[in-house]
Amino acid sequence: KKLIVLASGNGSNFEAIVRKLRNRYEIKLISENRDAYALQRAIKLNIDYELINYKYFRERESYNKKLFEYLKKEEPDLIALAGYMKILPEYIVEYFSGRILNIHPSLLPAFKGLNAIKQAFEYGVKYTGVTVHYVNNELDGGKIITQEVVKIEPEDTLETLEEKIHKLEHRLYPKVIDKVIRRLTISI
Ligand code: GRF
Repeated sequence: KKLIVLASGNGSNFEAIVRKLRNRYEIKLISENRDAYALQRAIKLNIDYELINYKYFRERESYNKKLFEYLKKEEPDLIALAGYMKILPEYIVEYFSGRILNIHPSLLPAFKGLNAIKQAFEYGVKYTGVTVHYVNNELDGGKIITQEVVKIEPEDTLETLEEKIHKLEHRLYPKVIDKVIRRLTISI
């Protein structure tokens, strides 16, 4: 079974996925950002990667087409977005319907979009958390697969909260990906 991870930035979730699941699945990374630290991680971890450099394309549409071609050629069983900073076009979401996951660092539908941890911290909520969901055509909007709660303690700072959330993400995402792939396998 093949898993493709899309990451634009740091790639700590990508690394957690690789460490937990590389023995079970073939894993590949795609990034559209040549400065993504995720690419360095792929090299260090000896994982195949593909840079589809967004800046190289004149229009978003030509980038998306290239991405779509690549994904179709690869025939992944599952695609996991892990800090992917572009919006997938409808035709990609449709084509891989039910086979694209995303992780978001809040309890959706609260605090969608960018800087969700900071949004929650600044709002002053007492509980926040992590959501793993299927991707549809609304931003952070697809069907929720699982959520876990993080309590914000009075002594928490934005930094300690970020640390807690990321730790939880690294534990949760590989587990959920594994479960979803197995379920997909069984239904075939
Ligand atoms: C994570 O917090 C994830 O929930 C969000 O983007 C961040 C990516 O972090 N979608 P990293 O690149 O995996 O370190």
